[in-house]
Amino acid sequence: MKQNDVKPADGKLGIMVVGCGAVATTFMTGVLMTRKGLTKPVGSMTQYDKIRVGRGADKQYLHYQDIVPLAKLDDIVFGTWDVYPQNAYQAAMYAEVLKEKDINPVKDELEKIVPLKAAFDKNYAKRLTGDNVKDCKNRWEMVEALRQDIRDFKEKNGCARIVVIWAASTEIYVPVDEKIHGTLAALEEAMKADDREHIAPSMCYAYAALTEGAPFIMGAPNTTVDIPAMWELAEKTRMPIAGKDFKTGQTLVKSGFAPMIGARCLGLSGWFSTNILGNRDGLVLDEPANFHTKEVSKLSTLETILKPDVQPDLYGHGNDEDTQYYHKVRINYYPPRNDNKEGWDNIDIFGWMGYPMQIKINFLCRDSILAAPLLLDLTLLSDLAARAGRYGIQRFLSFFLKAPMHDYTQGEEAVNNLYQQYTMLKNAIREMGGYEADEEID
Ligand SMILES: NC(=O)c1ccc[n+]([C@@H]2O[C@H](COP(=O)([O-])OP(=O)(O)OC[C@H]3O[C@@H](n4cnc5c(N)ncnc54)[C@H](O)[C@@H]3O)[C@@H](O)[C@H]2O)c1
Repeated sequence: MKQNDVKPADGKLGIMVVGCGAVATTFMTGVLMTRKGLTKPVGSMTQYDKIRVGRGADKQYLHYQDIVPLAKLDDIVFGTWDVYPQNAYQAAMYAEVLKEKDINPVKDELEKIVPLKAAFDKNYAKRLTGDNVKDCKNRWEMVEALRQDIRDFKEKNGCARIVVIWAASTEIYVPVDEKIHGTLAALEEAMKADDREHIAPSMCYAYAALTEGAPFIMGAPNTTVDIPAMWELAEKTRMPIAGKDFKTGQTLVKSGFAPMIGARCLGLSGWFSTNILGNRDGLVLDEPANFHTKEVSKLSTLETILKPDVQPDLYGHGNDEDTQYYHKVRINYYPPRNDNKEGWDNIDIFGWMGYPMQIKINFLCRDSILAAPLLLDLTLLSDLAARAGRYGIQRFLSFFLKAPMHDYTQGEEAVNNLYQQYTMLKNAIREMGGYEADEEID
């Protein structure tokens, strides 16, 4: 390994997951099973990917852990919060993502992962009925209670470092309000004044994590850390933040497929995406206010890849107010499918002289199976970023996220093109490993 300024990954890493549902338990079970040599962490970049470092005669292809100091799976300790009191074993069985034979070998360890009481407000997810909830007078008390949870967990488990990741339900949409979300002072004031309309419970988790010196990752489409006030807090505490929304099935396909249409200079008149899913996530998203949060996140992908202003002939003639192609995303709750989501994409493209063609993609995926490796990569890489002294929005993690964070107040655009995102990821690893960033063809 080359000389770099990254602190070593010594000691235990506490990964505290908000929400102990399908995604969280699939992630935890997979890590524990891998540790025992009983399964393989397929889909995880930090465990499998090899990237080139150096050029010419010095060129080498190395795993991330051979370039930068990453925490080892053996050093991970899991904690969690949930509205329901069931331990991680019971929650994994309830989720029915994994077969019993793939859970039972780590039953003892999962049973010890018992959710702490959640910072919760029913108005943010009406369909949840659990009562493992903190009794707090206001949002500021929620923050204080969560900070105490993090401190206690760290001490009890002898952790050197903590990362907090949100894998809880999607909250209702909280539009960014400059007056409240624009500065840290205004945000704190609103928390103390118990402004329940503008301060989502997820913001209390993020605030608590950052002030306790833990990176925070938003895995749902919530606007939680996507506000200037939280960027200010991340700068103040010198902690990394990342979000939002794990890029798993349909959007992964979209961000990989749209660049092909763009690179080949084909036209697009419409892209219709629909899904059916039947897990608790689907149940929460069946509520229009919660779906809207997801819709905003899912819709943002195409806009920065196929740009009407850059190629008006190809992307500027849709029926969406006659400005661009028509883009629609739907999610339908359909219980029989449980976690096995089915996504359909109908893509109306056109070619030479405007002649229309259609592409159909039918992805029979497994939501939590696709999400679990993202949690591993996002937590390990955020921990790495913190040790490398990188703080604020971690754009190099856009690769893993559906609606990547960017400083929109400075006119920055999100990078949604999967291959550009991969270049950003590789270059960040190279830089943290003491190598030069580059875009040489491998
Ligand atoms: N699986 C995917 O492909 C995927 C992709 C992108 C994003 N996500 C997001 O990940 C999240 C988790 O998905 P899932 O399938 O595991 O859902 P899930 O419903 O199985 O689990 C979410 C859990 O969060 C808990 N919860 C809700 N609010 C909470 C709070 N304030 N504090 C603590 N716990 C709380 C719920 O009780 C539930 O047990 C969802 O927001 C989903 O939109 C999933």
